[in-house]
Amino acid sequence: MKGGAREAGEDRALESEDALEPEDAPTGPKVDLYRGLLADVERLLEGERDLLANAANTASLIYHALPELNWAGFYLVREGELVVGPFQGKPACTRIAFGKGVCGTAAAEGRTIVVENVHEFPGHIACDAASNSEIVVPIIKQGRLIGRFDADDRAGLEALVEVFLAKTEVGSGGG
Ligand code: SME
Repeated sequence: MKGGAREAGEDRALESEDALEPEDAPTGPKVDLYRGLLADVERLLEGERDLLANAANTASLIYHALPELNWAGFYLVREGELVVGPFQGKPACTRIAFGKGVCGTAAAEGRTIVVENVHEFPGHIACDAASNSEIVVPIIKQGRLIGRFDADDRAGLEALVEVFLAKTEVGSGGG
């Protein structure tokens, strides 16, 4: 997902649902938005474990729920590179090598990357010139990189990826 304008410092630590319970749990509109999204994705993926089906619905849910996004989607690991999977938004780059762009770098390093201004990220791959910010969350199960999720709210999306992984059979349908 690529955002136009972003509210500086809005990111909050949203490790998982129970992290929201303690009295020092983060609060605020963004946290409420993600709390609702976590519940929605739980319900939406309930009873379905197919990777492509769950990726398609997760991308759509998040794309339509998060304001100011112009892209939300998955890249899956195929034949040693990232291949575009289910997404919402304008047509995207089809294949990305490990170590290339924000996606390839997050995949290669196995860590979430938040880019406040993509125009300052060396090697950023501009599939859509309208993109200003970007976050990439690697999807790792049992130590194996399955793919990565592209969006622009770190903690909330890391929590969503956890729900996605819990509900999805990563061996089915895709990467
Ligand atoms: N901008 C990404 C490429 C993916 S598209 O934007 C969907 C990158 O730099 O890796």
